[in-house]
Amino acid sequence: MIGTDFVPSAYSNSVAKGKITWKSPSNIALVKYWGKKENQIPANPSVSFTLDTCATTTTVTYRKLEEEGKDYSFDLFFEGEPKESFRPKILTFFKRVEHYLPFLKSYHFTIDTSNSFPHSSGIASSASGMSALALCLMSIEKELQPEMDPGHFNRKASFLARLGSGSACRSIEGDLMQWGLHKDTQGSSNEYAIKYPFPVHDVFKNYQDTILLVDKGQKQVSSTVGHDLMHGHPFAEQRFLQAHANLTKLQDVFAQGDLNGFIEIVESEALTLHAMMMTSLPYFILMKPHTLEIINKIWAFRERTNTHVCFTLDAGANVHVLYPESEQEIVYQFIKNELVAYCENGQYICDTIGYGAKKM
Ligand code: PMV
Repeated sequence: MIGTDFVPSAYSNSVAKGKITWKSPSNIALVKYWGKKENQIPANPSVSFTLDTCATTTTVTYRKLEEEGKDYSFDLFFEGEPKESFRPKILTFFKRVEHYLPFLKSYHFTIDTSNSFPHSSGIASSASGMSALALCLMSIEKELQPEMDPGHFNRKASFLARLGSGSACRSIEGDLMQWGLHKDTQGSSNEYAIKYPFPVHDVFKNYQDTILLVDKGQKQVSSTVGHDLMHGHPFAEQRFLQAHANLTKLQDVFAQGDLNGFIEIVESEALTLHAMMMTSLPYFILMKPHTLEIINKIWAFRERTNTHVCFTLDAGANVHVLYPESEQEIVYQFIKNELVAYCENGQYICDTIGYGAKKM
């Protein structure tokens, strides 16, 4: 059965109350996860850069109930205000993870959460939000089972985060994370993400990601619906094979510091993700005219300057502009001079590759 390693044995400790805070980052996939099976099992493996600036900070205050409740008992606050609209998502998450966290109905939780990026920026907060909450729950479990080893703590945090939102499982550690079974990656798993286990050339250290906020509105199609549309998709099988092959190719690219190889895989992955959306039934387009303007500007600039700036996209119109730290000055000037004009209200976020979640 899936996840049996994560069902705890009887807890050795008892705890009446406490408070825990985790700050967990977002991540950006280089090889994309798009399509899933039951229980949030990915249809193909993916790899991502963990981000640094874009993060969610979550504090969970917990108090043991006199007797175990019939249902979950929790209050929710977002940026200091009660947030009832988050309730269904948390309830679904609690239901999915209760089997692995049997203490959930024995406590009352106050969950207080806030994002470092502006509200309604079009940046998905599910990866950072779900990983931060999973880590808080793991810290509570660690109080109940102090002998837990750090490896198990991270693996289970990633496993729980995955049950909240697939890509969230890649936010626990950094700077490169791989999730999903891949024959050429020993230790890879569909159930949790692992730190990228192969050599990575220094040119990929401190890689820069400037996120251009092209469209801050609500997406017309959620990722949940998009993943579902990969069932029976005419190109699905080929796409899944391509993701496996790209992960294998990336091993040499990362080891050798092959920036051109990196660009080719990353941009192709981004466009393939959106091609899958455009060829689903029903079909949909999440890119906006400004997304395409930015892509064309990046291509022209790269050609003109021989720099190694490239783009990737997540399931939306915003563009992640990726470039090595050594080219930061010239690329940043280019972004300010030529790309910011395409951002909604001129908004963008300068991020860097990060090393995972932090306990505060
Ligand atoms: O974690 P979800 O279900 O929101 O899916 C995220 C999917 C992409 O961001 C498009 C790709 C990825 O691998 O993160």
